[in-house]
Amino acid sequence: MAKKSKSFSSAAPAAKKGAGQPVDIGIAESDRKVIADGLNNLLADTFALYLKTHAFHWNVTGPMFQTLHLMFETQYNELWLATDLIAERIRSLGHEADASLSSFLKRSSIPEADGTPEATDMIRELVKGHEAAARTARSIFPRAEKGSDESTVDLLTQRLQIHEKTAWMLRSLLA
Ligand SMILES: [Fe+2]
Repeated sequence: MAKKSKSFSSAAPAAKKGAGQPVDIGIAESDRKVIADGLNNLLADTFALYLKTHAFHWNVTGPMFQTLHLMFETQYNELWLATDLIAERIRSLGHEADASLSSFLKRSSIPEADGTPEATDMIRELVKGHEAAARTARSIFPRAEKGSDESTVDLLTQRLQIHEKTAWMLRSLLA
C-alpha cells in the first residue's frame, strides 16, 4: 500500500511538469518567440480596443444612441472572443499570454480615451483603433510566414479582415 502510494506520488510531479516538455511542432523556437511577442502586442491592442468599445457602448449619448449602442455591442463581443483566440495561439507556440493591465498598457498601440468623447469622436477613435490593430496584425506576418506558421497566418488574416471591415463600417457613419 505504502509502496504503491510512493510510486504514484513520484509519478505525479512528472506528469505536472508535462507543461515543460519541449514544443516540437516544426517551428523554430527563435521564430516562435518573435511571433508570440508580436501576438502579445496584438492581444494588448485587442483588449484595449475591446475595453474602449465597451465603455463607448455604455456612455454614448445623442441622436445616434440606438445605432451606436447596438453596433458597439456587436464589436466589443467580437473583440472579447478574439482575445481568447490570440492568447491561446500564443500558448500553442509555447509562450505565455502577457495578460495584465500594466502589460496591456505598455504593449498597446491604442491610447486610452480622454474622458467620454462626443458620439462622432467615439466613432473616429474606434476607426483609429481598428486601423492600429490592423497595422499590428500586419507587422507579424513576415515572421509567421518565415517560420511556416500557417496557423498564425490564418489567425492574422481573420483579424485583419475584421479590423479593416469594422474600420470601413465605422468610417461610413461619418460620410
Ligand atoms: Fe450592454
